[in-house]
Amino acid sequence: MENISVPQHVGIIMDGNGRWAKKRGLPRNMGHKQGAAVFKKTINWCRELGIKCATFYAFSTENWRRPADEVEGIMKLLRQYIKDIRAAAKENIRIIIIGDISRFAEDIRDELINIQEDSKNNDGFITAIALNYGGRAEIVKAVGELVRAAADGNLSADDITEDMIEQNLYTKEMPPLDLVIRPSGEQRLSNFMIWQAAYAEFLFMDVLWPDFTKKDLEYAVEVYSSRDRRYGGV
Ligand code: IPE
Ligand code: IPE
Ligand code: MG
Repeated sequence: MENISVPQHVGIIMDGNGRWAKKRGLPRNMGHKQGAAVFKKTINWCRELGIKCATFYAFSTENWRRPADEVEGIMKLLRQYIKDIRAAAKENIRIIIIGDISRFAEDIRDELINIQEDSKNNDGFITAIALNYGGRAEIVKAVGELVRAAADGNLSADDITEDMIEQNLYTKEMPPLDLVIRPSGEQRLSNFMIWQAAYAEFLFMDVLWPDFTKKDLEYAVEVYSSRDRRYGGV
């Protein structure tokens, strides 16, 4: 992998856990468990490839619609995930949580806040985890902040810029999104970073997330580096 341009910020939609389990006659939550193990490994692969920042879509604002036992299983797993995230934070990795964590149990919420606080000066790599995240909800939140500023007399409608919206997104301290990878064969964003993906490159892969390997990530980076990003120019 020489002479290739590596994306600074990669977004990964970790999809296909349920199908992975089904194929093996296992309960869906076993797929989530396996998916969590791959998440942990992928953080290191990203670093090894020279990526600066990766955002992992773990739970969407719409995923609450799933059966209660599946959501419960995911919450249990999240407590496990948190230990892995803690360990990552010890390796100079900064953890950023994107999404509305107020809906999670108090112990999970507190731990997520602490991890972010404890790792905020780490400058080796950024791992962002999207939890109860929805791109639309994120934009609504940003608009709310601007309306509040306007109501306080600090902003008028004609002065609103794209940058102001961006400064009120969860991703304000992260580089722009360069590449979105979605395993599992689905070809949609499912409400992932809809603002940030405006000029991102997309790669949809047939592999199910629990089967995702370092080779798959290398392939994705290679494909990315062959793309011609024009941003509307020539
Ligand atoms: C992604 O895998 C994990 C979450 C959305 C929490 P899925 O559970 O959506 O797996 P499939 O799409 O049913 O295979
Ligand atoms: C997107 O996957 C959310 C995550 C991977 C966390 P979904 O499985 O929820 O998306 P849809 O329902 O197939 O669009
Ligand atoms: Mg899915």
